[in-house]
Amino acid sequence: MKSNIVKVAPDYLALSSHEFIHHYANLFETKEFQHCFRYQNYMKLLGYSCRCLLELCMQFYAKPDLVVATTPLNHTSFRNIIEKNVKLQNIHIIPFNRHYNALGDLPVLEKCDLVIITHLFGQDLDLESLIEFKKKYNCVILEDRVQGGSFDLKFSHDVVDIALYSMAMDKRPIALGGGFVHIKNKHRDCIRAVERTMLALPQEKPRDRLRDLIKKIPTYLLYNSRTFLFYFVNVVRLLQRYNKNISVLKITQSYRKSNPGFGHFDYMLKPSPGLFKSMNENLYNHRKMERIYTTQYKKFIKYFSPPLMAYFFPWYKNKGKKGALTPYNTIYMDENLVQPFLEFFNRHHISVIANPTYKIFNFTYDSLDKDQKFNNGIVYLPSHANMSEEEMEYLSLRIRQFYRKYVLPSKQKLEPELNILLRS
Ligand SMILES: Cc1ncc(COP(=O)(O)O)c(C=O)c1O
Repeated sequence: MKSNIVKVAPDYLALSSHEFIHHYANLFETKEFQHCFRYQNYMKLLGYSCRCLLELCMQFYAKPDLVVATTPLNHTSFRNIIEKNVKLQNIHIIPFNRHYNALGDLPVLEKCDLVIITHLFGQDLDLESLIEFKKKYNCVILEDRVQGGSFDLKFSHDVVDIALYSMAMDKRPIALGGGFVHIKNKHRDCIRAVERTMLALPQEKPRDRLRDLIKKIPTYLLYNSRTFLFYFVNVVRLLQRYNKNISVLKITQSYRKSNPGFGHFDYMLKPSPGLFKSMNENLYNHRKMERIYTTQYKKFIKYFSPPLMAYFFPWYKNKGKKGALTPYNTIYMDENLVQPFLEFFNRHHISVIANPTYKIFNFTYDSLDKDQKFNNGIVYLPSHANMSEEEMEYLSLRIRQFYRKYVLPSKQKLEPELNILLRS
């Protein structure tokens, strides 16, 4: 094996430098581009971000006694938008199964107006069980497919009414900003309201779009340029000799925190003409990315035996030819091993990052402990999309070492306690 360094960050922007520069050229656009597209059974509406479109949908369904059933893990902004628009006692959790790749038993409620499903780790959840639920409560089903399965499907299941997608910097399709929503044509009032309010929002100023694009230059170099990252990691290694407080982990954490690629608050805008143009040009560029994600992920996971797959990637379904369809190479471990994992990889100068995406709700419910543990155990590895075979092999070797050194002993420690529990 040649590689003993991974020149890849835990994130990836699926665009070439030429495409990157093209977004700057679009800043000179003054013409208004198309913002809505009518299809046989749904309407596609473009917006400033996926969060903005969720907020607009929530505004349409808003009423004082709105009842929502939702999966427990959502993107931070989604969790905040739900908690802002719905009384906490009216938010009901749809539990996951123990592998976090299927819905568990659906809650029995007096009424339900809206279901919000967030798909995880590049796979769609099977929503078959929602058919009866929808019939019973006559509710609307909305899904966050930003990290769902293949975008060739416009909705993950027929039962869905509204599907949300992001075109932000590390998403597919990518436009370095923006998002879109698919709304079934039968929800004509919702389509009209979302479109009308989106067009009435203050418009993003071209200079703000320019500022956002400029901020993405270092991000693009760090995430996509293997040479840049290689020198960066080596400079950090060198500096570390003089100052032990400098580390790849600390720099990755603080960089991602200050450059999340989106703002949590200033997203209620109408896109600038330049962003509209970038979105229009890239609406269907997901296919190339999905091919890369699938083939690369398949190569990556072949290094793990079934017990390691079950431990580190419990959600992986290996269904059909699709693998994980996100730029994030996600791994799971017991929550108390996350810090040792981050430190272990930091010692090997490999950038990994603790779950920066998903949050649980701020109220208590039955499966809260289980969800909290799961959410705390999520880590992003270097993005498989950008890794060479040698790097995958090296990374997997380190993961296997970690398993032997930390996971197995903690399992063995638990086993006697488990045996006592089982015997009693
Ligand atoms: C799962 C998920 N949902 C929603 C979003 C929000 O997308 P946007 O930045 O377009 O609002 C993200 C962004 O990171 C995400 O990962």
